[in-house]
Amino acid sequence: MKISIIGCGYVGLTTGLALAELGNEIILVDVIEEKLNNIKEMRSPFYEPGVDDMLVKHVSSGAITTSMDVVDAVSGSQVTIIAVGTPSNPDGSMNDSYIKEASKNIGEALKVKDDFHVIVMKSTVVPDTTNVTIRSIVEEVSGKMSGKGFGLAMCPEFLREGAAMHDSLNPDRVVIGTYEDRTFQILEELFRPLNSKVLRTSPTAAEMIKYASNSLLATKISYANEISRICENVGVDVYEIMEGVGLDFRISPQFLRAGVGFGGSCFPKDVSALRHIAKDRKIDTPVLDGVMENNDIQPRHLVDTAEEMLNSLKGKNTLVLGLAFKPDTDDIRSTRSLPVVKELIAKGANVAGHDPKALENFRSEAPDIEYFEDLDKALEWADIVFLMTEWPEYKEIEWDSLETPKVLFDGRRTIDSSVLKKTRYWSMGKPLPKW
Ligand code: UGA
Repeated sequence: MKISIIGCGYVGLTTGLALAELGNEIILVDVIEEKLNNIKEMRSPFYEPGVDDMLVKHVSSGAITTSMDVVDAVSGSQVTIIAVGTPSNPDGSMNDSYIKEASKNIGEALKVKDDFHVIVMKSTVVPDTTNVTIRSIVEEVSGKMSGKGFGLAMCPEFLREGAAMHDSLNPDRVVIGTYEDRTFQILEELFRPLNSKVLRTSPTAAEMIKYASNSLLATKISYANEISRICENVGVDVYEIMEGVGLDFRISPQFLRAGVGFGGSCFPKDVSALRHIAKDRKIDTPVLDGVMENNDIQPRHLVDTAEEMLNSLKGKNTLVLGLAFKPDTDDIRSTRSLPVVKELIAKGANVAGHDPKALENFRSEAPDIEYFEDLDKALEWADIVFLMTEWPEYKEIEWDSLETPKVLFDGRRTIDSSVLKKTRYWSMGKPLPKW
């Protein structure tokens, strides 16, 4: 099938590569020329394992091409996937301006296109965006009716950054939200080679499935973090507790890793959007409110506990190891390292940061702290280390062999503490040690 994809972020690019891998021809569209130039040169515009190799394969074979012209790209394809950004407005609501712009351009193209064309919404959007906002704009601009002149569906994306290629090719489920049989059949055929469970719903239900999934995953993490603070005080290890809890097949052990909280472009944004949707409809959301409240507590709790254990952090050389919101990405959106850095500055510590991939991105958020490109030099400088992102290279550090012994606070349960003899170590969710 010929498919145009509007928006070359994580979702658009990895979806395009996955569909190319399944044998389709893809036209990638973006308004940022530099992104398209990167793609043409077979380099990913962002750091994501596996994407460069897939670009080499599919750009050189001609399966992937690029365009800045939405109208052209839509005219030359049978299916258009909308994967543009949906950033948050300052009040937590969703900014739909890119979606409206994409819908208008698609409508323009459909005005003069004779064949039946399917439009698929893939970005995370608030309920009714597909069936009301997109439908009405495309119908008005194209002069055609959804279901007759064109098809309309919402198929949410469930990929994780850092594992985006794997997740795009091996989804747990494909949700196809459409009222139209013809559109469903075309998309079912497109996604069939993925061999995953297909669920047909309405477009609005598909939109809600995405918010409800992400919010439940975020809720699991916040719940584990709340239990973690209780465990620390009771004197038991939250990882042992969650192992016991997760063995219940109704719960599963996934997303119960307690620590400094969740970051990224999705969980904080999606929980906030869902709260906003509810507030607009005068629905109380104590669970979702608590999820965010808990997530704000964890970075403060980490630094406060460190201060209590050491009496003071004032004037201490404090290294924040890991600035990306999780390993295998250079993404720092809502990273928990930022509130930790701010808390440390407020406590009077000298703060420095290190990250294998996200250092430059973080520097623009916190220009006033020191940065180390070299991990050995960073460790030489530090008295105290806050481990914030579980990058593999941090697991390799031989803490006990370092020239000056460190005090190590682990926000992500990265280190096997049983091998540590000289290093003073505490990980969130463990009973507090007596130093
Ligand atoms: C998340 C979802 O996992 C994807 O299914 C979804 O498609 C995506 O959002 C999206 O909406 O686009 P992502 O944000 O890439 O994916 O990252 P996750 O691996 O889910 O991690 C999110 C945050 O939660 C990270 O900061 C991670 O460190 C933290 N986390 C995760 C925990 O603190 N504990 C856990 O047990 C798991």
